[in-house]
Formats: sequence, structure tokens, C-alpha cells
Amino acid sequence: MLGVISIQYVAEFGYMAASALFMLGLIKLGKVKSARQGMSWAAWGMAISIAATVALLFADDHWSTNSVLFAVGSAIAGSALGYWMAVKVPMTSMPEFVAFFNGLGGLASTFVASAEIPRAAHLQLSLSDLGDKDHPGEGAMFAIAAALAIVIGAVTFSGSMIAYAKLAGKVNKNRAGPLGSQGLNALLGLASIALGVWGGFFAADPTQLYIAGGVLLVVSLVLGVGLTMPIGGADMPVAIALLNSYSGIAAMTTGFVLQNNLLIVAGSLVGASGIILTQIMCKAMNRSLSNVLLGGLQDAGDGGGAKKDEGYTKVKTTSSDELAQVLDSATSVIFVPGYGLAVAQAQHKVRELATLLEKKGALVRYAIHPVAGRMPGHMNILLAEADVPYEQLYELDKINDDFKNTDVVVVLGANDVCNPAATQDPKSPIAGMPVLEVWNARTVVVVKRSLASGYAGIRNELFQMDNSLMLLADAKKALEDTITELKAL
Ligand code: TAP
Repeated sequence: MLGVISIQYVAEFGYMAASALFMLGLIKLGKVKSARQGMSWAAWGMAISIAATVALLFADDHWSTNSVLFAVGSAIAGSALGYWMAVKVPMTSMPEFVAFFNGLGGLASTFVASAEIPRAAHLQLSLSDLGDKDHPGEGAMFAIAAALAIVIGAVTFSGSMIAYAKLAGKVNKNRAGPLGSQGLNALLGLASIALGVWGGFFAADPTQLYIAGGVLLVVSLVLGVGLTMPIGGADMPVAIALLNSYSGIAAMTTGFVLQNNLLIVAGSLVGASGIILTQIMCKAMNRSLSNVLLGGLQDAGDGGGAKKDEGYTKVKTTSSDELAQVLDSATSVIFVPGYGLAVAQAQHKVRELATLLEKKGALVRYAIHPVAGRMPGHMNILLAEADVPYEQLYELDKINDDFKNTDVVVVLGANDVCNPAATQDPKSPIAGMPVLEVWNARTVVVVKRSLASGYAGIRNELFQMDNSLMLLADAKKALEDTITELKAL
């Protein structure tokens, strides 16, 4: 008995330590310099949580060798699979990978909450009768938490799978028949509330409970697809941040179902930070959340794989040789990284070129747009990998006024984030979105492989402005050649 109590104390202490590590990790993740450390602290927090949860299994009166083996085996298999995937996945696929894992978090919450249905069915009770009889109101809270965990978890799962497919360029549609329409979404939303209330409070016999739970799960899965499908084009960053937040809320509600404080704390942290990130992304796009959710950018283009060459007529092309000469005489240079830089894996080359220019006495900076790339912080991570000094990275609002005093801007695989249509064409789907106003510099050199559009699938007048030159090549190859030419000058 004493042993069981002490295991419980140790496990609870482990939960507290893990919660503290999650919070400290999150604080450290707020700064690029300490982000790596924050990540490892949070990972240790997770390791402690798993160990404490397994220890708690031993403290349970009903533990059996099978249940412990199953829990330990699942933890080992899951950790090994996660490690293998994280090591194997290329950096360019990281955004889809993150969306995929987000979805798995939602699925786990749904599974745990759904597991309560057979328990209630076995006892011939409704979910609200499963709560603690000595504490009135807890039964209702339990039923609400279980229904919410199923709904939010399932919406997170199917929504994240659509986000994954959109980021990977496998899904380009905003609608599939009625799926994705606001009318059907509203109907599915109302149906899930009705099913949640019925299953949680009124279904008394096992058949009714199974029907309520099963239909709720299916309706929520379809709702997740319907809510994410219409979000496309440049709005995807908001969808990703929001789904991230949903996965936390699903975990938190599951924490209430299991009465597990650690899950409540960890879920709340993910949910709250996801909401803050959603706000940051909305601000970066100058869009309201309701506008994004109602699919305001439906006509913006297909997103995630749209590749249109818009028939430009006044484009001036250039070469690495010419770029080297332009850079050789520049006193101030700004690099604008975008998704293409990540695809080309040219981060080390841009750093090498920057060092060369600094040695020649030029002021070198990097302009970072908050939604450049395919995931929040994508460019910061990419450039940090090449040890680009953090002080040289400037956010949009800190650098936009400086373009007019800059000799050369080199746009490296970026497109939507420096599209003048945002500021100059009120009819553009991205009108009002703050962009990097690179065209104000004396010379702009855009390095990309073709004249194709970016993720939002829209035309970019920057390509044919008077002071623009297009270097049509892979970013890494173009940078390598420019470095060689510059060294020879
Ligand atoms: P994009 O507008 O997508 O443009 C990237 C450009 O890179 C493409 O036009 C492509 O042109 C070029 N490219 C691809 N591979 C290349 C290579 N090997 N070498 C050189 N260029 C290459 O990227 P962006 O400016 O970074 O804007 C991000 C977009 O993604 C925004 O619309 C944003 O809303 C959306 N988005 C962002 C996120 C987050 S959270 N950041 C998430 C989802 C969606 P070529 O094919 O002609 O080379």
C-alpha cells in the first residue's frame, strides 16, 4: 500500500516537473538563440510524462502485466517511429510533416474519448452518469468533455490531413461537391452539437450510445475536411496555426475526461500558443479570422502546387555573371529568402555570398516575411541552420522602409511575399496583405527557375518592373555561380 502511495506521489511530482519543463521550453522557443534548448527541454518533459504515466499504471489496483506491456510497448514503438520519421524527412517536407503530426494528436484525443463509450455502454449508463456521483455537476462536465474531445480531435485529424495534402501539393481544390460549402459546414456543426448532447446526456442503452458516438465521429471527420478545404492560397498559414491550436484544445478536453492534470496543462499550452500564433498569422496576412474561415480567398488561386506562367511580355533576364558585377559595386544588399530557397537548400550558399560581400565592405541584411516558406518561422530555421547571424535578420516592419536606400535586393525563391499587387491592386486576392516592398530598391534581382506563380497562384508584376532583373535558375546553382564570378572579379 505504502509502495503504491509513494509511486503515486513520485508520478505526480513527475507530472509537475514535466509541466514546468513544457512551460520553460515554450518560453525558450520564443527566441531563435534559445529555441534548440527549448525544444530539448520540452522533449525531456515528454519523456518524464511517459515514465510517470507508466508508473501510475502500477499504482492502479487493476493493473495487469498485459496492460503495462501494452503501454510500454506502445510508447517504445511510437517513440522509435517518431524518431525515424523525424530523421528521415527532408527539411523541405517539414511543414507537411508538422501538419501530419498535428493530426495524429487530434486522432489520439478522439481515440481516448471514444474509449469511454464502451465503458458507459457496458454499465448501461449515459456518459453524464460516468462522472463522480459525490460531486454533482462532474457527470455533466465529463459528458461535455468527452463529446468535445471526440469532435475537436476528429476535426483536427481530418483537417490536418487536408492541410498536409494541400502543403504537399496533392490537393488543390477548394470544394468537392457540397463538401467545403458554408451551408454543409453549418449543418454538420449543428449535427455534432445535437449528437454530443444526445449521446452525452440522454442515450441510455448501449445501442443508442454506440450510434451517437459513431455518427458523431463520422460527422466530425467530414466537418474537419469541410472546414479546411475552402482555406487555400495565401491563407494556409492561418489554417495551420488554427489546427495546431485545435490539437491542444482536443488534448486539454481529453485531460478533463481522464482527469489528468498534465494533459490539461500541456493541452492548454498548445491551445493557447496556437491561438496566439493564429493571431500573428492573421496580422501578417492582414486578414480577420472569420474571413479566412469563411473561405474569403477562394478565388485567389489553387494554392499548394499552382504553377501558372502568366504570359509576361517585358521581362528582362540576367545571369550570375551580371549579378556578381552588380553586387561587386553595391554598398548595401538585402537578401529576401522564400520557399524556393528551402527547396534549393541554398541557405549555406547565401551565407557564403553574404560573407564575401561583407569582406568587400557591403552592408548585408536579410528581410524575413512572417509567412515566407510553408510553416511559421521557416526562414528563420533555414538561415539559422547556415549560422546566419541573428542580428542580420529583419522582420517586415523593421526593414520595409529601408528598401528605398538599398542598392541591390536579391529575392531568393520568394514570390507571394514580395508581390506588389498586395499594395497596388485593390482587386487582388492578396490586397492589403503586408508585403516586402523590394521594388523600392535601386535594383532587384529575382532568382527563381521560371516565371511561374507562387503558392497563392497569382501573377507578380515585380517580374517586369523597370528596375527588376530575372535570374531564371535554381537558387543554389545561381548562388554558386555568382560566388565563383565574384571571387574572380
Ligand atoms: P512562394 O510564393 O510559394 O514562391 C516560391 C517560389 O520559389 C516559387 O515561385 C518557385 O518558382 C520558386 N522556387 C521553387 N524552387 C526553387 C528553386 N529550387 N530555386 C529557385 N526558386 C525556386 O513562396 P513565398 O514567397 O515564400 O511565400 C509563401 C507562400 O506560401 C505564401 O503564399 C504563404 O501564404 C504560403 N504559405 C505559407 C505558410 C507559412 S506558415 N509560412 C504555410 C502555407 C502556405 P519557380 O517554380 O519558378 O522556381
